[in-house]
Amino acid sequence: MPSFDYLVIGSGIAGLTFAIKAAEKGTVAVVTKRELAESNTAWAQGGIAAVWSDDDTVESHVADTLEAGAGLCEEDVVRGVCEDGPACVEQLIALGAQFSARDGGSGYDLALEGGHTHRRVLHSADRTGEEISRALIAATRRHSNVHVFENHLAVDLLVDQKFGMARTHPQCWGAYVLDTRSGEVETFTARSTLLATGGTGKVYLYTSNPDVASGDGLAMAYRAGCRASDLEFIQFHPTCLYHPDARTFLITEAARGEGAILRRPDGSAFMLDYDPRADLASRDIVARAIDQEMKRSGWDNVVLDMTGLGADFIRQRFPKISERCASYGLDITQTPIPVVPAAHYMCGGVVTDVHGETAVGRLYAAGEVAMTGMHGANRLASNSLLEGLVFAHRAVEHANMVIADSDGDVPHFPDWTAGDAVDIDESVVIAHNWDEIRRLMWNYVGIVRSDRRLARAAARIAMLRDEIRQYYWDFTLTRDLVELRNLALAAELIIRSARSRRESRGLHFNADCPDRDDENWRRHTAV
Ligand code: SIN
Repeated sequence: MPSFDYLVIGSGIAGLTFAIKAAEKGTVAVVTKRELAESNTAWAQGGIAAVWSDDDTVESHVADTLEAGAGLCEEDVVRGVCEDGPACVEQLIALGAQFSARDGGSGYDLALEGGHTHRRVLHSADRTGEEISRALIAATRRHSNVHVFENHLAVDLLVDQKFGMARTHPQCWGAYVLDTRSGEVETFTARSTLLATGGTGKVYLYTSNPDVASGDGLAMAYRAGCRASDLEFIQFHPTCLYHPDARTFLITEAARGEGAILRRPDGSAFMLDYDPRADLASRDIVARAIDQEMKRSGWDNVVLDMTGLGADFIRQRFPKISERCASYGLDITQTPIPVVPAAHYMCGGVVTDVHGETAVGRLYAAGEVAMTGMHGANRLASNSLLEGLVFAHRAVEHANMVIADSDGDVPHFPDWTAGDAVDIDESVVIAHNWDEIRRLMWNYVGIVRSDRRLARAAARIAMLRDEIRQYYWDFTLTRDLVELRNLALAAELIIRSARSRRESRGLHFNADCPDRDDENWRRHTAV
């Protein structure tokens, strides 16, 4: 039974930041279901928002975040993150992360993105996530106290109360973890556990997220007895590449920050018809505008025109996008890029306090899986890496204090038993259910919702969850089965949250209650 001081589940910015800092005090296990480098963080293009230039202020960053959040951000949390942000970014730089310098080399080049009134996004060209991930992985590997378990997928958390141990307040002591290559489930115990599993993008048919984003942390936390809030606020990124041969690929909002323009396929620009900020309106507005244009005209996509930015600038500032589009035969210096919105970010999540601690003691959540109060009903671009970074620091400081103040041994948990489960003989049922969930979420719980579509989604997901529950007990665990179980639960929680909010606000738009209702609904939903 592997036993550590800290268990970190997930290897994005929040997980590895926590692990590196925790390793100064004790032993750390980092459990990640594929390779360390596979995380939503690594896919981030835009950057990390922080007050960096002399003409910017924390107050301005706070105001922009609150404005995007449509009345549901927790202002004290936002202020704390905006204040702590620059120092945490300095620490990331000290660990080796390199951001793009301004032309001429003095200071960083700060990008502008939708909803920001100042240039404040530090970036590494359009490969910011890759760079942050590279630096954090290198720092993780340097620490002898950090033990990395790749191809290990956490299945469920070890919460003492759930095992009948008498406790006034439930506490988490690790997790059952599936080694996805051997098929064995091991018991990892720890004095402190961090969920840093990212979001649930794969619950939708079209998403900017990597395959790992299957809502595992949200589902585990819910089963462990945590509260989740604001799950109806799923952010759809307005501009993902639309190409028959391409898996959904993000075209960073920084492109619009540099002057790229959304156009109808006939060449006319349309964002000014929807918002005075035009292409730099917040994401909810831009995504809904594109959705409306496509539905009204029957077009499969709109286009993002970067051709006015100049070929040299495009290649130097957006190398990844240039190369990827070129691989599909698209020269973006000459031709507008076909784009569609796709599911991008879960603004709600597992509720935490200002230290990142959940309702279950010794269990922390940071990054996309968490609902700290930072994002409200719509996340401001590039605030997510910042929030994950700041809360990872806070969580580890709090966890150190809890560990230092407590005495006694880690309780004993029984080994996992597979019971009468047999190897699955029909993988097709898993693939079919996975596909069905993603389609129904896209069609019924997408950018524009209605009571009827949500009710249909709820009925369908209830049936699917019954079927999946059966497979879960009948078949030995595989990664696909564990992920499917989590994905189905995440879908159900999103649907329940969307049905409960009887208004439209931020990223949640229900055609049957299209107005914002501050009197009754300026509050979080909870499951
Ligand atoms: C982007 O580069 O447009 C995505 C950044 C973000 O989601 O914050």
